[in-house]
Amino acid sequence: MDGLTIVQHPLVQHKLTILRDRNSSTQLFRSVVREIATLLCYEVTRDLPTAPVTIETPIAVAEAPAIKGKKLVFAPILRAGLQMAEGMLDLVPSARVAHIGLYRDPLSLEAVEYYFKTPEDCAERLVIVVDPMLATGHTAIAAVDRLKEAGACDLRFVCMLAARPGAEALRAAHPDVPIWAAGLDEQLDDHGYIVPGLGDAGDRIYGTR
Ligand code: URA
Repeated sequence: MDGLTIVQHPLVQHKLTILRDRNSSTQLFRSVVREIATLLCYEVTRDLPTAPVTIETPIAVAEAPAIKGKKLVFAPILRAGLQMAEGMLDLVPSARVAHIGLYRDPLSLEAVEYYFKTPEDCAERLVIVVDPMLATGHTAIAAVDRLKEAGACDLRFVCMLAARPGAEALRAAHPDVPIWAAGLDEQLDDHGYIVPGLGDAGDRIYGTR
């Protein structure tokens, strides 16, 4: 699918299998979400521009590349996105964090907003929206809508697992927002869960079910 990158690295694929396994403990699930997020962060930032800076090594003055421009924003969709944001902050500790409180209405599956806070200058920053599951796409689309309303214009979306219908919906609503995922499943069930998927990511991260 145009604009969708599935990260095929063996470590990512192995760790995704651990997430899919219903016998993985809460502790394991939580730590592996963080690890995959770090690896996906490496991929999604692959093309960040750099500029030479002058530094002093212990031996000599040298020019060396450094990331150019304003710090990134990670925008986790609450609550499951929080653990992904932690994994990305492991790699980019100076990033800013926007919080997007959205939940899926269990009947309509539509996104309902209850919290939204982003850095004021997000128009000048790359904003990476993170949510483990891209299922129907409703929540992802609503999150990107809100970030664009707040001025963001350079956005990327990163998830653990995408469902084809959700990825297609997000690409159709926001063709300017590329998607990175560790896996792509074809189907959703009647409750909007990804099949075979990995279950409810928030519940498995926080041990609430
Ligand atoms: N959210 C989840 O946590 N899991 C799914 O399969 C779909 C949405």
